[in-house]
Amino acid sequence: MTVKEFIPSPYTKSVASGKTTYKSPSNIALVKYWGKKENQIPANPSISFTLNECATVTTLSYRKVDGPNDAFSFEVSLDGKKEEGFKPKIKTFFERVYPYLPFLKEYHFEIETSNSFPHSSGIASSASGMSALALCLMEIERNLIPAMPAEFFNRKASFLARLGSGSAARSIKGSLVQWGEHAGTEGSSDLYGIEYPYKVHSVFNDYCDTILLVDKGQKQVSSTVGHDLMHDHPFSKQRFDQAHANLSKLRSIFEGGDLDGFIGLVESEALTLHAMMMTSRPYFILMKPNTLEIINRIWAYREATKTHVCFTLDAGANVHVLYPKNEKVLVEGFIADELAGYCQNGQFIHDHVGRGAQKIN
Ligand code: DP6
Repeated sequence: MTVKEFIPSPYTKSVASGKTTYKSPSNIALVKYWGKKENQIPANPSISFTLNECATVTTLSYRKVDGPNDAFSFEVSLDGKKEEGFKPKIKTFFERVYPYLPFLKEYHFEIETSNSFPHSSGIASSASGMSALALCLMEIERNLIPAMPAEFFNRKASFLARLGSGSAARSIKGSLVQWGEHAGTEGSSDLYGIEYPYKVHSVFNDYCDTILLVDKGQKQVSSTVGHDLMHDHPFSKQRFDQAHANLSKLRSIFEGGDLDGFIGLVESEALTLHAMMMTSRPYFILMKPNTLEIINRIWAYREATKTHVCFTLDAGANVHVLYPKNEKVLVEGFIADELAGYCQNGQFIHDHVGRGAQKIN
């Protein structure tokens, strides 16, 4: 599909007011998105597990105003409290999606949002938050175009979510979602995420992810700054090529349930992401001493027990501990006994692979 196909024909229906609620999950990338071009086009394809517990619930109330507004008219609240701080990001989002949702200036919006995870946990809420908002907006458009096919609805929701935050494109539908054009993946696109279209071994259907909250502080590097560091980066070409190669390798790993292959690839992706940050100018070290302690503990435990526990990282100090469900009892014991002590206030969140966003109302 092309960008033009997301521009609607003039609406023939009109809706005066309404309210809709969506719950959207967070996701954890296995092959990382790090680097982008203009208009939120990724520099390389990425793939993620959709999470189940870490999610944002957003209610969007809308009412038509008399004559279109000059500017976007909206209020935002987080957990029932007005959040002026969120407004600039949402305004930018509205500006970016306006060409594709021309009704935006005809309404006043109330956006009420809440996260299942603590706001300052260091867990990025942009993927779940932007995808939930994109879905609510698509629900309005579906009221204006009732014959809209479900597939188009999801695709456009992902397309819009991407314009809010790249990783949000992977938080609409499916357990394993790929975003970004890749020669080996049929139907893949830079414009939106797709459910991974090939065979996936059942071991990956309910994979577990425990998020260890190592550092709950404000992000040291915003994702915008971080992605920018990949322009003029000495290793960017090799990195982007590597992401393509890793996606190709994942095909047989997913199909055959090759856990050793999975572990090697996923941990290398996480460390490469951080290596990119350490070798850019300016450079950053986003891991904390406890991040390294945890990684070493995971490696020692895996070696000693022959379990399949491994880690991945976001652009921060928190660690995602990944393991198959049939090792849950053992690994959860290991986390409580040996890893919780490295977390801020002993905090961690047990999560697992989910199926995607849900309409609540
Ligand atoms: C390290 O999606 O937060 O989590 O498009 O600027 O909003 P923006 O970036 P964002 O970047 C996520 C980067 C990452 C890796 C990933 O999720 O693939």
